[in-house]
Amino acid sequence: MTNHPAPATNEVSEVERIMKSRFANRFYIDRAVDVETIRGILDAARYAGTGANVQPWRAYVTTGAVKDALTAALSDVHATAPGAHRSEFSYFPDPLPEPFASRRREFGSLFYGSLNIAADDVAARAEQTTRNCRFFDAPVALIFTIDRRLEKGSWLDLGMFIQNIMLAATARGLDTCTQEFLSRYHLVIRDHLPLAAEEMVVCSMAIGFGDPQWAQQRPQMPKAPIEAFASLHGF
Ligand SMILES: Cc1cc2nc3c(=O)[nH]c(=O)nc-3n(C[C@H](O)[C@H](O)[C@H](O)COP(=O)(O)O)c2cc1C
Repeated sequence: MTNHPAPATNEVSEVERIMKSRFANRFYIDRAVDVETIRGILDAARYAGTGANVQPWRAYVTTGAVKDALTAALSDVHATAPGAHRSEFSYFPDPLPEPFASRRREFGSLFYGSLNIAADDVAARAEQTTRNCRFFDAPVALIFTIDRRLEKGSWLDLGMFIQNIMLAATARGLDTCTQEFLSRYHLVIRDHLPLAAEEMVVCSMAIGFGDPQWAQQRPQMPKAPIEAFASLHGF
């Protein structure tokens, strides 16, 4: 017995196709995303599971002149005073323990390698990083916040909401890139969006139509096999 009708096999494969075809896209074409599409994505995402149904997420969705002004301010601060800004939380510990450090190194060499940027080409890597401030030129930029009085549990909920947004976007033929990078510029973001004092900027996301050429040449990020993260008991 289940609360859901048994899905046809092709529905399972459609859900899994969407889950497996999502990737972090950092290259977009110049094509607007209409507001109905954005509302559809947000409408699907709000069904994310959440501890005690507290639904602790907030999303600020920007496009057009609002996004352009935010992008200009972020690019400016990143060019002029990058060291003066800090995220309100640590995304990674320093040093990052194994096996995570090796995976991060592999990501860097695959991503920058696919752009023909050498490991010691600090300027080219920095230029690529700067593109975060422009949301990789995607037409829609989201800022996610959480009430700073909440605990780690609610951050789990926010992650599920963000994943739902990525999948609902993928289902509509859109690409996404979630970004922790911009959380350091929360003061700049505050100047442009009506965040309440208790809201902490957690991350941002670019959404748009991906550049089809990049979709062909992009490196596939390796995903650890089941045995690396799960053990099965009693089967
Ligand atoms: C919470 C989160 C934060 C991320 N932050 C950034 C970021 O700041 N800049 C960036 O270029 N990519 C960022 N990414 C994308 C990851 O690098 C990417 O998801 C990872 O390399 C795996 O690749 P895939 O998403 O294509 O499978 C982030 C992803 C997540 C889920």
